This record gives sequence, C-alpha cells and structure tokens, in this order.
Amino acid sequence: MIQLKSVSKWYQNQTRVLDQVNLELKKGDFLYVVGGTGAGKSSLLRLLATEEAPSIGNISLFGYDLSAVSPSTLRAIRQSLGYVPQNVRLISDMTVMDNVALSLSLAGHRVLRSDAKARILEVLEKLNLAAKKDKLGATLSGGEAQRVAIARAIVRSPELIVADEPTGAQDKDNTWNVMDLLLKSNLTSATIVIATHDRDIVRRVRKKCAILQSGRMALEGESVCTY
Ligand SMILES: Nc1ncnc2c1ncn2[C@@H]1O[C@H](COP(=O)(O)OP(=O)(O)OP(=O)(O)O)[C@@H](O)[C@H]1O
Ligand SMILES: [Mg+2]
Repeated sequence: MIQLKSVSKWYQNQTRVLDQVNLELKKGDFLYVVGGTGAGKSSLLRLLATEEAPSIGNISLFGYDLSAVSPSTLRAIRQSLGYVPQNVRLISDMTVMDNVALSLSLAGHRVLRSDAKARILEVLEKLNLAAKKDKLGATLSGGEAQRVAIARAIVRSPELIVADEPTGAQDKDNTWNVMDLLLKSNLTSATIVIATHDRDIVRRVRKKCAILQSGRMALEGESVCTY
C-alpha cells in the first residue's frame, strides 16, 4: 500500500527535514506520526499525499512508483486518498454542504444526487456539523473548518487517509468523534496515517507509531509506542 525507500527531503539549501526514511504499510494499517514541532511530520504527510515529491528516494503508493506514474494514474491515486492538511483551506464562499459535495464530485463519484446528499449528511452528523451545513466556509470557527476538511476527506470512503493533526483544533468531545470516525474507516479496511501531538490519543488508542527526530524516523509497534 505504502512504501518509502531511503526517502530524504530538504527545502532550498537547508538541512534534511527527512533523512533516509524507510516505511512500509499494508492495507488496513494505522500509523501515528509523532515528534516535536518542526520534526518533519507535515513534510512526511505531504509526501504521502502526493502534494510534494521527495528530494531523493522512492515512494510507492498502491503499488505505483510515484516518480514514474502517468498523469492519469496519479489522478486515480489522488482519488483513492483523502488528505487533511494541517492548514485547512475551505472554499470560503461555498456552504459546508457544498464544500463536502465538491470533494465527492472531484473524486468522480457518480452516485445519485440524493444518495450523495444522504452520505454527506451522515458524515456531517458524525462530525457534529449537521447544524452548520448551510453556513459559508468563511464563517466557521477553526475547529469547525477542520472538521469540514475531515468530512471532505472521509466522504469519499478513500482507501488511504492521510490526516495532519486532525484533532489539533478540537475539544475533547470532538477529538473522540474524529477518532471514532477514523477508527471506523480503518475497520472497513482504510489505511490511516495521522500526525498528532496528542499523547492522550496515542496512549488510549494503541497503534503503531513513527517517531521523527532530527530528520530520522524510528518505528515502534503498537504495544511499545513510547510517545
Ligand atoms: N516549504 C518549506 N520551505 C522551507 N522550509 C520548510 C518548508 N516546509 C517545512 N519546512 C521546514 O521543515 C521543517 C519541518 O517542518 P514540518 O512542517 O514538516 O514540521 P512538523 O513536524 O509538521 O511541525 P508542527 O508540529 O509544528 O506542525 C521545519 O524546520 C520547517 O521550517
Ligand atoms: Mg505539522
């Protein structure tokens, strides 16, 4: 599903943000990416979400080497993944409902309109956003906007979800709503990678974790994740 081989990333002439990172995830795996601020979590997640390319090294997603895929295969890969960036960007003059619907139509879903609407409402309900469905993107709080971004990623039922601190702007109740949704997606076979600072989550929901420090990555099993 995901394979990184000796992946390094640097920006301009700076030191390596990621240094020779290796990672292999199977379908249905769940991985936390942890580490201090500036450790490279978002940089790693952008690579996994095909938003950026590594400076050196190889990444394969769904069995495709990203350095050698055709534009149409890259499009198909992007349609199979849901990415929640750390800095959420909603379309400010569209409603919550339409922001989420856009994600479905971009993913090429040819579901009937009423089915699509029901699916969107179901996801908004789970994220405690049903009452906000007609509000414009620009008028939401930071936490609400972040949950809309999660709804946009999840509504497509993607095979891979890459979420960058998806609970970073949430209160306790909404944190566990978000986690619940991600765990349910994982149970129905989605592969999940989330960057997080939240030690409470990592300790209460035991999963594999990748600890980033000074560009290097150490992998720990779910029973030993010491973050
Ligand atoms: N586009 C960029 N250009 C230059 N430097 C960058 C760029 N993006 C990230 N960096 C640098 O790379 C390092 C890692 O940043 P990154 O955003 O991946 O860290 P992070 O672990 O996600 O941090 P945080 O917990 O604060 O979100 C930082 O030193 C940052 O300044
Ligand atoms: Mg980050």
